[in-house]
Amino acid sequence: MAHADLLPGQWQRQVALMEWQPQIVLMAALKVGLIEALLEAPLSPEEAAQKLALDGRATRRVISVLVDAGYLERQGDGVMVAPEARALMDPSDAAFVGDRLLHLHNLFVSWVQLPQVLRGGGPARSERTPESLRAFIGSMRVGARERARPLADRLAELFPGTRTVLDIGGGPGTQALAFQEGGWQATVLDFPEVVDLMADDLAQAGIATIKSDATQGIPARGFDLVYCGNLFHSMSREECAAVVDGAADALRDGGALAIFDFLQGTGLPSSLFAVNMLVATSGGDVYGEGDYRRWCEAAGLRDFAAHEVPGQVQRLLTAVKP
Ligand SMILES: C[S@@+](CC[C@H](N)C(=O)[O-])C[C@H]1O[C@@H](n2cnc3c(N)ncnc32)[C@H](O)[C@@H]1O
Repeated sequence: MAHADLLPGQWQRQVALMEWQPQIVLMAALKVGLIEALLEAPLSPEEAAQKLALDGRATRRVISVLVDAGYLERQGDGVMVAPEARALMDPSDAAFVGDRLLHLHNLFVSWVQLPQVLRGGGPARSERTPESLRAFIGSMRVGARERARPLADRLAELFPGTRTVLDIGGGPGTQALAFQEGGWQATVLDFPEVVDLMADDLAQAGIATIKSDATQGIPARGFDLVYCGNLFHSMSREECAAVVDGAADALRDGGALAIFDFLQGTGLPSSLFAVNMLVATSGGDVYGEGDYRRWCEAAGLRDFAAHEVPGQVQRLLTAVKP
């Protein structure tokens, strides 16, 4: 068997063509502010290096790649962001993907430490800064954009009596916004520093907020629905059980818990995500359907069910408070 055959098909080409390299170059350019500096007007590589206090030789080489990859275009003696890439690179545009790429860059830093993690256990060493938190939350927003409305519609079909929803770990507010647009009153619970980042956007949409650590109990009651999207994978088993307990307490009788997350044994995205949690968290993992069922039943919830969601690798798990 040729070495390339050991790789899943879609990756053979990427590895062969080193397709990851232009992406790393783009991430680095975003991280040092080079892309933002080239959004409005062209600069020569020398001007850009001087403006951002960068090494001139490195800046010239990186700019050549960004031009050849199509992210930048030449204008006279200078370069600037190409019109086709502009919306994706402009932080003020709704299509901005810069935070996503910056978060991926932070993940790469953790992933390349996998050999050390294999020897000594996880997580990898990483730096948590206000910038990395902003990139993480911005990245979650990009991830949630397309699925937020279909998920809200699906939950409205499953639980038509819903009027109030608590979104635990609702961070970027994208899902809560879709709930709110569907006519529900949404409340987002997240860590204080995350709620602070999103406070203006959430208040503008009429979304209530709770600053809290969900593993310490939920300080609110009487919700028709409690939703936890991509939350449990970052926590240990004990923390998951505690959050399901807290969620059950926060529901009215007859209310429902809905969990959207990766499920163990559902293929490559799920096993890769477990490695992601290994390098990025101290206790996170991808859990099995049986784990979620057990936590729900221990919290007194009934009618546990797992649903596939078209177009998503994660599953939707639901249970009802009798
Ligand atoms: C991976 S993001 C998912 C965001 C969003 N729910 C989604 O599906 O796109 C996880 C979110 O849960 C929050 N979170 C993680 N652990 C938490 C805890 N113990 N209490 C409150 N929020 C938590 C994080 O701050 C982050 O906003």
